Amino acid sequence: MLQPKPLFNPQADTSYGKRRLIGGETSNLMMLSNNKYGWSYPLYKTMMQNFWIPEEISLGQDKMQYETLETAERETFDKVISFLVFLDSLQTVNLPNINDYVTLPEVNLLLNIQTYQEALHSQSYGYVLESIVGPEQQQRIYDIAVKDPFLLKRNRYIADCYQEFIDRQSEVGFVKVMMANYILEGIYFYAGFSFFYNLARFGKMTGVGTEIKYINRDELTHLALFQNMFRELRKEQPELFTPALEAELREMMKVALDYESEWAAYAIGDRIQGLNIALIEQYLRYISNYRLEAIGLTPLYPEVDQDPLPFIRQFTNFNQTKTDFFEEKVINYAKAGSDLDLDGLDELDL
Ligand SMILES: [Fe+2]
Ligand SMILES: [Fe+2]
Repeated sequence: MLQPKPLFNPQADTSYGKRRLIGGETSNLMMLSNNKYGWSYPLYKTMMQNFWIPEEISLGQDKMQYETLETAERETFDKVISFLVFLDSLQTVNLPNINDYVTLPEVNLLLNIQTYQEALHSQSYGYVLESIVGPEQQQRIYDIAVKDPFLLKRNRYIADCYQEFIDRQSEVGFVKVMMANYILEGIYFYAGFSFFYNLARFGKMTGVGTEIKYINRDELTHLALFQNMFRELRKEQPELFTPALEAELREMMKVALDYESEWAAYAIGDRIQGLNIALIEQYLRYISNYRLEAIGLTPLYPEVDQDPLPFIRQFTNFNQTKTDFFEEKVINYAKAGSDLDLDGLDELDL
């Protein structure tokens, strides 16, 4: 069993050797000038400097364009945004459940910032919806996540992966809930992102595309956080990563890809200019290889070594976030001359 950490433990031995991601000793004092994990402070700075405000992106033109989208595009838009609302909502609510078991203050801090960013993402979808449709339509779109039988089944599966750790906590369970989180962040979001980037490259709903781009920039830091957590846990508790558990983690990825392909067939299909099911399926397999390798697991589809949707890279080149995405107003709150370094994120090649 894995125990949640006590709220305050003045007797804790917080020498470096005793500090661990889970099951370590912590007084719960935020000793943030003395972090064990060297990567945590640069990541903290990047996450803080990524601060953005959804309302600063104008959606006036998107409102008009939404009405003129092809019917299939509009239907897909509604389904995809409802799914993204679900994913970010679940993240906001569930990350504290993971954080309760993390015994390193610097990671507690980062998970809290991530939680706030997930809430911001939900708010950005609210802003998108209130900008383009009336209240009744907004409710109809939110309801897709819980009423559309296909999406409901899918969302139940994702929530159940998290619920399992809420119901039964163990060290192996912690690794699995980290994996579930990593898949949500690194795979599930991406079919949705690809839909919006695809619309944007045809000049459609570019304000929403910009919102998605800022969300995507945050998500990259969340992936970096979980990749680093995996690496540290492997170093601290290598005995946890048995061949059986690793096989299970790869299987989780495989099931996720199958679900995602089914979803893409249902929500996106072959009705959208510039996208088709085969391309999306290949794209998700392609990025899953990177995701698995980044946490020390063997890729599932090594034969898929070409990016089938290279246009997405134009939207995710985050070293260019200091200039405009789609000639929108520049949003960058980092101080001039800051030493913010996004190179590390691009190296992740996500
Ligand atoms: Fe998010
Ligand atoms: Fe996230």
